[in-house]
Amino acid sequence: MTANASIPSSSSNASARPVLVYGAAGHTGRFVVQALHEQGHAVLLAGRDLGRLRAAFPDAPADQLRVQRLDGDAAALVRLLAESSLVVNCAGPFADSAPQLLQAALQAGVHYVDVSAEQPTAREVFEQWGERFAAAGLCAAPAVAFYGAVGDLLATSATGDWPGADAIDIHIALDSWHPTAGTRKTGVRNAGRHIVYRNGQFQMPPAVPPRKNWAFAAPFGEQDVVGFSSADAVTIAHHIRVPDVPAWMNETPLTELRAPGTPAPVAVDASGRSAQRFLVEVVVRRGSEERHASASGQDIYAITGPLAAQAVGRILAADGALTGALSAGQLGDARSFLQALAPGYLQLVFAG
Ligand SMILES: NC(=O)c1ccc[n+]([C@@H]2O[C@H](COP(=O)([O-])OP(=O)(O)OC[C@H]3O[C@@H](n4cnc5c(N)ncnc54)[C@H](OP(=O)(O)O)[C@@H]3O)[C@@H](O)[C@H]2O)c1
Repeated sequence: MTANASIPSSSSNASARPVLVYGAAGHTGRFVVQALHEQGHAVLLAGRDLGRLRAAFPDAPADQLRVQRLDGDAAALVRLLAESSLVVNCAGPFADSAPQLLQAALQAGVHYVDVSAEQPTAREVFEQWGERFAAAGLCAAPAVAFYGAVGDLLATSATGDWPGADAIDIHIALDSWHPTAGTRKTGVRNAGRHIVYRNGQFQMPPAVPPRKNWAFAAPFGEQDVVGFSSADAVTIAHHIRVPDVPAWMNETPLTELRAPGTPAPVAVDASGRSAQRFLVEVVVRRGSEERHASASGQDIYAITGPLAAQAVGRILAADGALTGALSAGQLGDARSFLQALAPGYLQLVFAG
């Protein structure tokens, strides 16, 4: 992939030690590497297979490539991470990669960011790793990706000065969903582990998911949407005082995701993005008041790159002031986080 000239890069956040991307050769890992380079970071490209790293980054010097299994030599993994200032975990399913990389990051004394969409993994980071990272003066930020970050950043921005809300509804429209191999494996790995956030607690989703009609902005317009278990429910409930965080999605992409014959995404531009369009509309309600915020863009895998890179820049620039387990919405001001990606990656609308 090459950088898309139409997408602006922001000022350099380069730190003394490089950022290490584990799972760099994956579909999403490559977008993360590209976005980190655009932000001026030196990057180490890591994974478990040298051939796949070389194939994904044919022009990368050999001294930027690192091969290390997660189920192998734990001390070697710690030494690898210690070469960096921060590890971005792009190796999903994260149920299998996050525990090893979180442990190694703690031992190596480096920050941790992942792009997981997995609700149980994000909860584990918040509930089981946060205190240890805080005690070490380190930050662990899970689900900094399309699912987990966009809804959280919009909800945090819209909630603004309110101390909490009665409900935060996340409405997601995709015009298609051509899943990667990693998405398919993650779906299988997390079967039966999905949750929703209702009445102030995480629960199993209802046997029959709720449905409603939702009038999205153009070009999606009016759509039937179905209750959906999104990582945003976990990231939002982690830091905003709200009892209900229902998430909804239009049906076409879910049908495509479930169909075994749906092809993988195909690049349609120089940055590697597919033609997929997304729109996320968030409604924050308090009493009779409502605030709305939305973000639209192209390709849910590609947008994950700049989201993760923005998080990396903020954590490193904070120089130890951002510690513990934090969602994207907690990494400084949420609205400026989103605005840093607009209009090249995200088109934003705030109302109310
Ligand atoms: N939250 C979101 O919105 C969002 C957005 C994008 C992606 N994701 C998630 O990110 C993950 C990756 O997606 P993708 O599209 O990049 O998939 P992908 O193209 O299949 O890439 C997955 C990468 O992870 C590596 N990997 C997986 N398990 C590993 C393990 N146990 N040890 C070492 N390496 C491992 C793979 O290495 P090998 O090639 O050696 O197998 C590969 O490099 C998925 O879980 C997906 O759900 C989430």
